[in-house]
Amino acid sequence: MRRTLRLADRSAIRPTGPDEIEAVAALHAEAFAASPHGHHGEADLVRALVADGDVLVGLGAWVVDGLIGHVLFSRMAVEADGLALSAAALAPVAVLPAHRRQGIAAALIRAGHERLAALGVRMAFVLGDPAYYERFGYDAALARPFASPYAGPFFMAHGLDSAPPRPQRGEARHPPAFSRLA
Ligand SMILES: CC(C)(COP(=O)(O)OP(=O)(O)OC[C@H]1O[C@@H](n2cnc3c(N)ncnc32)[C@H](O)[C@@H]1OP(=O)(O)O)[C@@H](O)C(=O)NCCC(=O)NCCS
Repeated sequence: MRRTLRLADRSAIRPTGPDEIEAVAALHAEAFAASPHGHHGEADLVRALVADGDVLVGLGAWVVDGLIGHVLFSRMAVEADGLALSAAALAPVAVLPAHRRQGIAAALIRAGHERLAALGVRMAFVLGDPAYYERFGYDAALARPFASPYAGPFFMAHGLDSAPPRPQRGEARHPPAFSRLA
């Protein structure tokens, strides 16, 4: 296994641009093809989020041979006790099989959180395996007050500032591309 991405070298992680959309879609298709967690619509999800203008942060991890990992955060419509709240959905995140377990997804997710916080985004939501996402601060209890079609133990939220909103009730709507996902 090549270990060409030095995680101390932040230049290996940079935003992906509109002209790189097919490389990003191909990466997700390849990474999810072998995954029991994937529903294999991730490449189309990425294309749809870009086409709809709903991407807030898209970051790629690069080595000399090209793109080996990618994370996308998209704009959500979230209300907390009736007030609009700036929030993002984490999905998808993927790393090519040969480059896994080197902390690349972790570096992408943490860099994404930093960028979101700098944009004034206050919460990130994810639907995924708590055993993985809890290490980044995602918590099902934080997401529980927010109505969502994804509500349940795998629906988690992470506060991006020091005082995450804890409303009595709220609503967390994903971008339309998610409901078109096969
Ligand atoms: C999940 C994924 C992005 C992790 O990428 P990565 O760069 O290997 O992640 P990291 O190196 O930051 O972390 C790896 C650790 O997470 C663990 N991990 C990965 N997926 C996990 C899961 N679903 N549940 C629990 N732990 C998981 C690994 O076992 C590993 O543990 P270790 O640190 O004890 O060795 C990668 O495995 C992947 O692309 N999978 C296919 C796509 C996918 O399932 N995406 C997530 C959808 S929710």
